[in-house]
Amino acid sequence: MDIAVLSDIHGNGIALQACMEYLKKHPVDAYCFLGDYVGEFPGIRRVMDTLYELQEKFPCYMLRGNKEGYMLSGMGEAHPEWDSYPSTVGMLRYGRAHLTRQDLSFMESLPATACIHIDGMKDIRICHGTQRAVNEKMRPQNRENQEILAGVEEEYMLCGHTHKVMNIQEYSKTIWNPGSVGLPVIEEGAMKAQFMVLHGDDGAWRPEFVELDYDIERTIQDMHENGLREVAPYWTRVTERILRGTRVTHGGVLGRAMELCTQETGGCDWPEVPEIYWKRAFEEVAVRCS
Ligand SMILES: [Fe+2]
Repeated sequence: MDIAVLSDIHGNGIALQACMEYLKKHPVDAYCFLGDYVGEFPGIRRVMDTLYELQEKFPCYMLRGNKEGYMLSGMGEAHPEWDSYPSTVGMLRYGRAHLTRQDLSFMESLPATACIHIDGMKDIRICHGTQRAVNEKMRPQNRENQEILAGVEEEYMLCGHTHKVMNIQEYSKTIWNPGSVGLPVIEEGAMKAQFMVLHGDDGAWRPEFVELDYDIERTIQDMHENGLREVAPYWTRVTERILRGTRVTHGGVLGRAMELCTQETGGCDWPEVPEIYWKRAFEEVAVRCS
């Protein structure tokens, strides 16, 4: 019994395609998706259609991530008062504009957490962040882990959301994170598409972490052709930097932009972060990190 586990695709259809091609050559019995299907990339249609196709052919365990939560809560819908903050809200709007009614009801139908139960195997708790919050990050040796894990009955747990591969044992649990298909946090080397395959042998689960190269420049070109630099100017530039290997994060640049805005104007409430502060933060942080 082999299960492919994929998380945090973030609309990167090109990276997902590389994973699917690999999985065609190394077939599995079931698929598990831990959420965040939309995000920084324009391949939303390809991603959603891939999910629907897989659902037709395989047993699938699919969760809702925080990005789906944003789509369902209307954050991507028209808020004219946010028109001047494209770097902050542009990709949310783009995501919402490219989802169909079917996509939204599909997202609505997804649970935030679930259990993979297969006869003869140990159960696995699956979640996007943690089993108690979609936005919570499960990190190794985090102070909160004891409390988080006390709420998990299963011995095995799969989490996404941090975009970092994880394979740890804490408080008698084994916790895995497959990393991210679309935008992993890579410590060293070139950008990859990450996922994992869980091999169920003789009642035990054995993880195999997979990292694949794919065409980064074509991915950036696809972002440009779909106008993402206009949709979300600095958010998209940060994505491009990450793809090309700069150790920078969207949260890091956004945080700095909000700090600069607060210093100069006395306050800054998300999402009302003026582009001028995005520009300055991007130049400061992205250039320093490259
Ligand atoms: Fe997430």
